Order: sequence, then C-alpha cells, then structure tokens
Amino acid sequence: MLRVGVIGAGHIGRNHSNVYHSDPLAQFVAVCDVIKEKADAFATQFGVRAYDSVDEMLRQEQLDLVSVTTAGAENGGHHYEPVMQALNAGVHVLCEKPLSNNINHAREMVQTARAKGLYLGVNLNHRFVPLAARAKTFVDEGRLGELCFVNMALWIANRNDSAPYFHLRALHPHSIDVMRYFCGGIVRVQAFFKKASHRQIWSNASINMQFANGMVGHLTGSYDMTTRHPFERCEVAGTRARFVLENVYERLTLYPHDSDETIVISNSIMGGTASFLDTFKNRIHRFLEQVDQKVPREQIEGSGEEGLAAQEVIEAAIRSFETGAVVEVPVT
Ligand SMILES: NC(=O)c1ccc[n+]([C@@H]2O[C@H](COP(=O)([O-])OP(=O)(O)OC[C@H]3O[C@@H](n4cnc5c(N)ncnc54)[C@H](O)[C@@H]3O)[C@@H](O)[C@H]2O)c1
Repeated sequence: MLRVGVIGAGHIGRNHSNVYHSDPLAQFVAVCDVIKEKADAFATQFGVRAYDSVDEMLRQEQLDLVSVTTAGAENGGHHYEPVMQALNAGVHVLCEKPLSNNINHAREMVQTARAKGLYLGVNLNHRFVPLAARAKTFVDEGRLGELCFVNMALWIANRNDSAPYFHLRALHPHSIDVMRYFCGGIVRVQAFFKKASHRQIWSNASINMQFANGMVGHLTGSYDMTTRHPFERCEVAGTRARFVLENVYERLTLYPHDSDETIVISNSIMGGTASFLDTFKNRIHRFLEQVDQKVPREQIEGSGEEGLAAQEVIEAAIRSFETGAVVEVPVT
C-alpha cells in the first residue's frame, strides 16, 4: 500500500480524497491546506491528519505519493510550489491540470521529476474511461486505416472572467490530451479566439492543428456553453473507418467505410462509468497501480510529459492568435 497525502482541500481535493479513501492500493494518511479549517474538515471526514504546511506534512508522514489539488491563477498558479516541495522530498506526485499556468514552471516540474527519477502524473482524467480505451484499440489495430483527421469539441459553462487566456489554459489540457492520446504529437497550430460580448476573456476558441504523423485536426472550445447537454465529442477518421466518442464515456460509434452497418458501444448502466466522478476514480487508481508496480517512468499514462505537451500546444495557440501566424509547437 502506498502512503498518500492530498495538498489542497477544495472541491477537487475532495474528489481525490474520496478515491484514496476507498482505493485498496492507497493508505490515505494526511491532508494539507494553507487554510487550516479546510484541512481539519477533511481530517474529520476521512480520518486523516491535517496540516497547514506542506513541508511539515512531508517531514512527518513518510509519504510515497501526493495529489496536488491546489488551484490559483488560471487554475494552475498554485501548483508549482507544492509539486516542487514534494519532488524535492522524494515523493511521487499526481498534479491537477494544468501543471502550471506558467509554461516555464511546468517545464521545470517535468525536468525535476525526470532528474530525480520520480513519477509525475497529471489528472488528465477524461481519457481514463473504458470507451476511450476501446477507441484507442481501433487506432492501434489499424481498423481506421491510415489516420486522416480529428475533430474535437469541449465546452462547458465557466463564468470566471479572471484572465484573458483562462479558458485555454484551464480547460484545454483535457481536450488536447484526448487528441494526442488518439493521434500523437501536434507540431503546428493556427488559432482564432472569440470573447462573448458580456465577457472579459477569450471564452471561445477554434484551433487548427497539424500532427507529426501528417494528420490534420481541429478543436472547438468554449466556456460559454453548459454541461446540461453533451459537452465533449471526439471524432477520428482514417482511410478505412471513422469513430465518434460522445460525451467522454457515453457512446462510441465506429463507421466502417466498406459497410452500411455501424458498431455502437454504449456505456453500460450495469457496472459501466456511473458518473464523471468515475473518471477521477479510474485515473487515480491507474496512477496508484503504476507507481505500485514501479513501471518505467516513460510508461506512466497521463504523465507530466504528456500534460506539458498539451500545454505547449496551448501556448503555441495563444502565440498564433496574438501574431496571426501558424506557430510551431516545441517538442517536449
Ligand atoms: N480534472 C478535472 O476534471 C478537474 C475539474 C475541475 C477542476 N480541476 C482542477 O482542480 C484544481 C483544484 O480546483 P478546486 O476547484 O478544487 O480549487 P479550490 O480553490 O476550491 O481548492 C484549492 C485549495 O488549495 C489550497 N491551497 C492553495 N495553495 C496551497 C498550498 N501551497 N498548500 C496547501 N493548500 C493550498 C487552497 O486554500 C484551496 O483550499 C485546479 O487545478 C483545477 O484546474 C480539475
């Protein structure tokens, strides 16, 4: 069993805590929040010790692994410090997305984990569902043929108007990660953004992409929609077939070019994905499993490197929007 702590006792910290509390691979022992009352409330709920200092928790608890579920500017500004504290104490980290809203900090976090031989994972939970794994087998087994294009859409409601690129940096690590999961590395981008007229931030995005394997792709994103209706869709097409993965885990449809029949795989109500919270359960369990099995670092699914690669695409899209140019994405 792995001794686990959670840093950041907010809404998402509670999701992580619930998973660690019930996962057989984890011994959930401590929680830290700079607001002591928040840590205390978690301590009471989960029967763990509460801290208001990350260093103190790391000194006292001999942890194997921490989740960093802080937020900050663009939902990532507070991640750098506790992630670095944990890595410098020799503790593996699962960090919420984005690794940081500051790309240089995100790069340093990944380099530090690599230099220290520690695991760094990112909570890229959207792809940790059975239907995404099934869709990936369509790609890997060649059922799509030669990959041609990908269309991705992710839109939710978020009224936060705090920073011009908040929507890009806070939301789209997920969508870009899903695109990269199926289609590989992204090398060039061209972006257009729109502010809804009542907003201060670029709350809508349209991003064209070229992939290292020659595929073309597109992402539509928004913070002006709702999660009442389907909010995520991924379509990947090749020379032999096309699939559509609807609403993260609801339905996967394969459209073979040589048949009038389609294959539809629906999420089962008997033991399937029960709610979006299961994406946290699946993702965190996989990280625990891989840390427990001491897999080679490069095999970590949803790794720091992958989280950083998605962020590099976002920063390139921002540069494209600002300059009107097609922008090369740095290789991570
Ligand atoms: N993966 C997903 O599906 C998903 C969904 C929503 C949000 N998120 C991410 O989850 C993260 C947390 O979001 P939230 O809404 O729970 O935030 P929140 O603001 O409610 O909670 C963050 C907590 O961290 C604490 N904190 C800040 N700095 C700290 C430090 N150095 N040490 C200890 N505690 C510290 C704060 O006091 C606060 O209680 C964000 O990065 C967000 O992007 C992920």
